[in-house]
Amino acid sequence: MKKVRVALLGLGTVGTGTWKILRDNGPMIEEKAGCCLEVARVLVKNPEKKRAVELPEGILTTDFESIVADPSIDIIVEVIGGIEPARDYIIRALQAGKQVVTANKAVLAQHGSDIFAAADAQRRTIKYEASVCGGIPIISALQQSLLSNAILEITGILNGTTNYILTRMTESGKDFDTALKEAQGLGYAEADPAADVMGVDAANKLAILAYLAFGLKLDVKSIQTEGITGVTQRDIAAAREADFCIKLLASAKKINGTYRLKVCPEVIPLNHPLAGVSGVNNAVLVKGNAVNELMFYGQGAGEMPTGSAVVSDIIALALQVA
Ligand SMILES: NC(=O)c1ccc[n+]([C@@H]2O[C@H](COP(=O)([O-])OP(=O)(O)OC[C@H]3O[C@@H](n4cnc5c(N)ncnc54)[C@H](OP(=O)(O)O)[C@@H]3O)[C@@H](O)[C@H]2O)c1
Repeated sequence: MKKVRVALLGLGTVGTGTWKILRDNGPMIEEKAGCCLEVARVLVKNPEKKRAVELPEGILTTDFESIVADPSIDIIVEVIGGIEPARDYIIRALQAGKQVVTANKAVLAQHGSDIFAAADAQRRTIKYEASVCGGIPIISALQQSLLSNAILEITGILNGTTNYILTRMTESGKDFDTALKEAQGLGYAEADPAADVMGVDAANKLAILAYLAFGLKLDVKSIQTEGITGVTQRDIAAAREADFCIKLLASAKKINGTYRLKVCPEVIPLNHPLAGVSGVNNAVLVKGNAVNELMFYGQGAGEMPTGSAVVSDIIALALQVA
């Protein structure tokens, strides 16, 4: 069995989960998938930082050039996050003939066209299951399992942080600021929560889903986006009074021949399939013209669920390489 050599760019939350899954499930992956994966290099920003996992001597580097120039590396996994240098590293990895995995919705939503063009030009593949809803296999569902359908509509809870805040506001009567602080204390919200609470993160993910489902150009600026900072206890109480609840929904559907994409807080009845999605969980409802309505539900973030999606992408690419 050929050893497929992988380089991880980033060893934070997602990189660490990816490392742990490859370490712990490696033998099972070999048996089930028939491929042998070896992490050859790990790129980080600060090599002095204490790591949650023990790495073999000499594997850690701060030098991207040595990774991209190494002909023995088959797959590069970008889990750095942000726009630069992630965009540059992804494009240069593809240009160097590597297969690429990324978990980075922001870079795909903003620079996906250039990235996919670079992959096409080199006849390489970029896989990005972890970029939307972490552990939920919604990307592969749209790319493979649902190819038989015209997708009519997608509606989802795509951001765990905002869903946690709205859940706490609903269940315990907390106001937005208190629920946000609680989420930050539990590690569910960033110190700078703007991208989550303003709806930008959900919009990035919606742009990717709409690209796959409807073939729309990746254009996050065209998505009408409103976050949850304006949702008050009064709004929540009024909704509850009428057996409704408030969720930050991302939705895409065709109305009068035009696709309408939006992210905003919406009032939905308690018997709606998305009403019961609480805490940091994510869910996506997909309506296809043959299959009708499907719901994908699970953990949309975190070390292991996101690592699960990244490793599945690595395996799929390794089977092409091996
Ligand atoms: N966290 C989640 O649950 C989750 C879920 C789905 C998708 N994602 C996506 O996955 C990506 C990674 O997220 P994360 O939460 O794992 O991030 P993170 O915990 O902040 O980790 C980022 C890692 O990248 C390294 N890094 C940052 N800038 C670098 C640079 N210029 N050169 C080399 N290495 C650099 C950091 O190095 P040091 O360790 O030395 O600082 C760190 O190891 C993001 O695109 C995010 O949107 C995350």
